[in-house]
Amino acid sequence: MTPEDLSSYGIGDGISEVIATTQSSSGKPNAAPVGIINRGELLIRLYKSRTLSNVLETMKIAANICADAMIFAITALGDIDDEKFTHFRGFPVLKDADAWILFRCHMRERAANFFVFNLEPIAMHANRKRVMAVNRGFNAVIEAAILATRAKNTEKSVKMMEHYKRIVDKCGGRREKDAMNFVISAFRRICDER
Ligand SMILES: Cc1cc2nc3c(=O)[nH]c(=O)nc-3n(C[C@H](O)[C@H](O)[C@H](O)COP(=O)(O)O)c2cc1C
Repeated sequence: MTPEDLSSYGIGDGISEVIATTQSSSGKPNAAPVGIINRGELLIRLYKSRTLSNVLETMKIAANICADAMIFAITALGDIDDEKFTHFRGFPVLKDADAWILFRCHMRERAANFFVFNLEPIAMHANRKRVMAVNRGFNAVIEAAILATRAKNTEKSVKMMEHYKRIVDKCGGRREKDAMNFVISAFRRICDER
């Protein structure tokens, strides 16, 4: 299985934003967005998070391909209910994913504030073949969620958030608008706490 073979499961060249599912050594599942980097080899770069702790405990991660803005917003800034998970050979994946790929992780680099892992695909499954046009509102929610997870209460980040909101208002559907409201509330809360 080469990185090219994964394109039919939604992982193309460059960086694919997916919902990573992992579990702790005691079996507690977690979901959070991460970027799968495909530059001839497959990599992930993980900063301090539950996803990183779980990967260090089990050396496994599943990439769930999802086209729902809300799941990106919620998992970036909070938690989903356990009922959203199903299990493949004891490992959590998302019930509603279009497809998922389960990887074994191999430590490649350990820096002061992040780890890089090589990914080896060990199982994959497609639930549906979705065709989806580019929606700027969806993309703006993804950018807004990334900004919120790195939230700094600066004039620049507030202006960027307002810019993303304008795109979602103009181009997004109901789901993107709900997701953007969720992201903005979390962003304000995080900024207030800092
Ligand atoms: C689209 C998107 C992509 C992200 N990619 C990464 C990534 O590649 N690596 C990483 O460490 N965090 C990434 N993040 C941030 C994490 O999802 C975020 O820190 C999250 O709160 C971690 O949750 P956890 O503690 O449940 O693992 C990304 C966030 C978004 C919205």
